Amino acid sequence: MSADSSPDTSDTALSRAIEARVSRRDVLKAALAGMAGALAPSALQAMPAGAGSTLGFAEIARGLDERHHLPPGYVAQVVLRWGDPLFADAPAFVPGHPDADAQEQQFGYDNDFLAFFPLPASGEASLRGLLCVNHERCTAQLMWPGMTERNYRERMTAAHCAHEMASHGVSVVELRMEHGRWRTVLDSPYNRRITLRSTPIALSGPAAGHPRMRTAQDPEGRRVIGTLNNCAGGVTPWGTLLTCEENLHLYFSGEPEGHAEAAARKRYRVHGRGLYVWGRHFERFDLRRTPNEPNRFGWVVEIDPYAPRSTPVKRTALGRFKHEGATSAVSHDGRVAIYMGDDERFEYLYKFVTQARWQPQAPEANRDLLDRGTLYVARFDADARMHWLPLVYGEGPLTQANGFHSQADVVIEARRAADLLGATSMDRPEDVEAHPETGAVYVVLTNNNARTGAQINAANPRPNNRWGHIIEIVPPRVNGAPDHTATDCAWEFFLLAGDPSDALQSARYAGPVSATGWLACPDNVAFDPRGRIWIATDGQDHAAGFADSLYAADTSGPGRGITRLFFNAPRGAEVCGPCFAANGSTLFLAVQHPGDERGSDYARPSTRWPDFRSDLPPRPAVIAISREDGKEIGS
Ligand code: FEO
Ligand code: CA
Ligand code: CA
Repeated sequence: MSADSSPDTSDTALSRAIEARVSRRDVLKAALAGMAGALAPSALQAMPAGAGSTLGFAEIARGLDERHHLPPGYVAQVVLRWGDPLFADAPAFVPGHPDADAQEQQFGYDNDFLAFFPLPASGEASLRGLLCVNHERCTAQLMWPGMTERNYRERMTAAHCAHEMASHGVSVVELRMEHGRWRTVLDSPYNRRITLRSTPIALSGPAAGHPRMRTAQDPEGRRVIGTLNNCAGGVTPWGTLLTCEENLHLYFSGEPEGHAEAAARKRYRVHGRGLYVWGRHFERFDLRRTPNEPNRFGWVVEIDPYAPRSTPVKRTALGRFKHEGATSAVSHDGRVAIYMGDDERFEYLYKFVTQARWQPQAPEANRDLLDRGTLYVARFDADARMHWLPLVYGEGPLTQANGFHSQADVVIEARRAADLLGATSMDRPEDVEAHPETGAVYVVLTNNNARTGAQINAANPRPNNRWGHIIEIVPPRVNGAPDHTATDCAWEFFLLAGDPSDALQSARYAGPVSATGWLACPDNVAFDPRGRIWIATDGQDHAAGFADSLYAADTSGPGRGITRLFFNAPRGAEVCGPCFAANGSTLFLAVQHPGDERGSDYARPSTRWPDFRSDLPPRPAVIAISREDGKEIGS
């Protein structure tokens, strides 16, 4: 959830759209001309909605209520909720009372990205594995009694702040399937909490040890306590977790005047007036006392879930920005690309390509593969080609003349480096994932209600884009395999989200979507074992008035790009982290911030999902979806 980018649903926005109608039509005609063959307004299609799709579930109805909803024949098990103990001796959840030490041993708040690592590591369809879960953020007024959206800043004590810090980070939990249900294994040696409050994390790569990374607490600039705003992530081919630090600007207070980092902070919107008030009680979040601390966040963190005592590592070669996710793709020659979005309006799409090849037979050789390689940013051109521009110190404008003195400066200020290279400003790049079979790269752009008609470009063709879109990048093939190292690729639109029956929205799908199948605000995606794409939304309630949801579509054949509605979240919630396990018979989903909407607080939440007990607040939770007959999801 991007705090700076909540969709503008005001009347003004609507009027603007109507006023812009005529000029928009011309602009769009030109911008969409290139995709006319691939995508068409659904109204022009002769086929019935959904015809040709391989997806066998019955679409559910739209809605916005206290509960989640699934198609007939599907069930959901609540696997882990905020506060659930993760260790045999962990204290039980006590609602309403801050206890940071207890939270260090319990499941954190606001579950986001999910990854399932099979046990043993070679097991493909394992019914036993390690579920890794990001805990992105907190909503104080839903966690603590006596707080509202308006007054929580004044009411947060040091104990509340410490608890919130302990609720951020990552959980690693062993799960086993027993009698058709997933059980958490509380005495597993793998179970682990990584928190912002207590877990030492090493810095590696070009920025490690740089003076801009040093603080009084860490005079060498090589060790940070914790990770924050862990949004989405990825899994490396060598079996580690990548967890991504997104909205770092929310966490700091006390903007100092005239500091050397002031301009760099501004580019990241770190302004000292974030949502959290920890700086009042903990000096590392007070910019006046620890001005370099923001430079130590905004990175991709690598964690080995199979080595519970290993130190996580912030891989600075991958650049510093508001990382949504970091997903890997092995290229034709064994080098590995990591695709990454910077989730803010007008920000960029990046990839990192390792210098060395992945060596499946030599795990030690892969350990620091992410420390050496090339970081690129994307430029999309109107001729259906796109180019990856290298962010390398000393090349092009990335020199001392522009204030870059080393690769450390380039990665710390990746956004400014990308500005200078002429990267394409995008409509909130969230998940970016390569299709496991075709190698096509899906770039999910959630929305951008601030883009004007003068600011549109070939890849972001709609002003006031409240609905988002998905781009497909097609890398060239070498000896039949996708070349993810290539710097010149083809691209096209996979879909332009929104309601295709409303001409003002200029939505486009590859075929006829049903009245409930069109979507808004795509965010996280996953591929099922048959290569179909599953798309979770963030902000559909604001953009379209119904709950955030999960949709599915084929990526090829007659059902390509025809989205179908599979799951509705309870009100106030966002759907995150779709993750298939057990040969596609389980779909783990993270339901984030249930009840987080205006006027909803601990005393009067708009839902008490998932417990529906009057003595419990709503709790973010991971659910496991399966079919009653145990067969593959979606078949
Ligand atoms: Fe944390 Fe980009 O959503
Ligand atoms: Ca989001
Ligand atoms: Ca997200």
